[in-house]
Amino acid sequence: MVKEKCQSDYSNVSVQELRKEIKMDIKIREWKIEDKSELAGNLNNMNILNNLRDGLPYPYTEADAEEFIRAMLSADKDNTFAFAITLDDKVIGSIGVFRQENIHYRTAEMGYYIGEKYWGNGYMTEAVKMACYYVFENTDIIRIYAEPFAYNTASCRVLEKAGFVCEGILKSNAYKNGNIVDMKMYAIVKQ
Ligand SMILES: CC(C)(COP(=O)(O)OP(=O)(O)OC[C@H]1O[C@@H](n2cnc3c(N)ncnc32)[C@H](O)[C@@H]1OP(=O)(O)O)[C@@H](O)C(=O)NCCC(=O)NCCS
Repeated sequence: MVKEKCQSDYSNVSVQELRKEIKMDIKIREWKIEDKSELAGNLNNMNILNNLRDGLPYPYTEADAEEFIRAMLSADKDNTFAFAITLDDKVIGSIGVFRQENIHYRTAEMGYYIGEKYWGNGYMTEAVKMACYYVFENTDIIRIYAEPFAYNTASCRVLEKAGFVCEGILKSNAYKNGNIVDMKMYAIVKQ
């Protein structure tokens, strides 16, 4: 991991500071099977899938969405924290925090996306703060990290606005859509 070209003006924030920072009328809640239509509507989009890990089908159907929701609802509640992101009770996106294993069991990886028509309103920044707040308040996890592709400026910005620190660039860390790409390591640590 190299430290060059990885700038962040933000230092780690406390749980209380995260709580105070949550302002918008965005909510995160447990998934419901009935969310499958809105979930599929948001995720069936290559502009989103191109920024995620491989493995999700395209087109992404309601049946795929139902399978995902059932998996999240039956997952170990100590290890998987998966939320629908809602605006006025409509599902606009997804965020999940996943506990790691072995010596990393107090660390968790975060992943997220929001429907393209909702981009640019600050919604994901709020959802990231809420998910971190929930996990730090309700579990023994002390570190949450995310690894956006280095070119995913919007995601890097979301993480910085939510108090994550860019710890380094992971050079040639992925092969995505035929290209070898860098990723960035962002983390927030409970104080
Ligand atoms: C990344 C993503 C979650 C952002 O959601 P969002 O609700 O639009 O995020 P926010 O509005 O809270 O913040 C986006 C920030 O990025 C900035 N931004 C967006 N596109 C940008 C670009 N091309 N260059 C520079 N900044 C950009 C916005 O201006 C905003 O920053 P600002 O508040 O300082 O102006 C959304 O674009 C998405 O779902 N993308 C596809 C999936 C994905 O990338 N998931 C993350 C994988 S690590």
